[in-house]
Amino acid sequence: MIKIVLYTHILSATAWVGGSLLLFALGILLRDRQAQKAVYAHLGPIYGYFETFWLVLLWITGLTMFFHYGFPDIFAHAPDSELAGKMTVKLSIVAAITLLTIIHMIIAFKTHNAERTFIQNLISRGSSMMIFLLNLVIVWYAIGIRDLL
Ligand code: HEM
Repeated sequence: MIKIVLYTHILSATAWVGGSLLLFALGILLRDRQAQKAVYAHLGPIYGYFETFWLVLLWITGLTMFFHYGFPDIFAHAPDSELAGKMTVKLSIVAAITLLTIIHMIIAFKTHNAERTFIQNLISRGSSMMIFLLNLVIVWYAIGIRDLL
């Protein structure tokens, strides 16, 4: 059973991180501003629902494994262990990613098909860049946790 949970977790991670890699690549490679605007206008909402679905699944499957592997006991009895340390970093990154995603989505819904102010643009682009970079780091920590389990 836990194998299916891990499988779903890894599948969700590939979809979540893969989606952000694709959008990042589009932002860099699609230089034509009109084409970029059109692509983002159509793809944006679908991408938002797609990513939200996988992030929710990551939380559900992640928390299931968190309890299955007895992390509450690890934090209670071995808070200074490498495993507890790595999980603390991982959960902090997940919390940051989740918060940045919520901020990004609020702006996206508020300004869909409308002109953005300079500040809205800055926050929207900044949050997606941060999510992209944190995604690269979190996979590294996920592997580290797996090594110790
Ligand atoms: C953006 C969110 C997340 C991403 C991208 C992510 C990514 C991953 C990946 C790729 C693995 C597999 C590592 C490997 O097999 O080498 C993994 C394992 C794991 N994740 Fe996550 N994860 C996320 C969120 C969470 C959350 C929210 C929790 C717990 C509350 C969690 C708990 C775990 C645990 C316990 C494992 C180890 C399971 C095992 O290796 O058997 N993850 N994660």
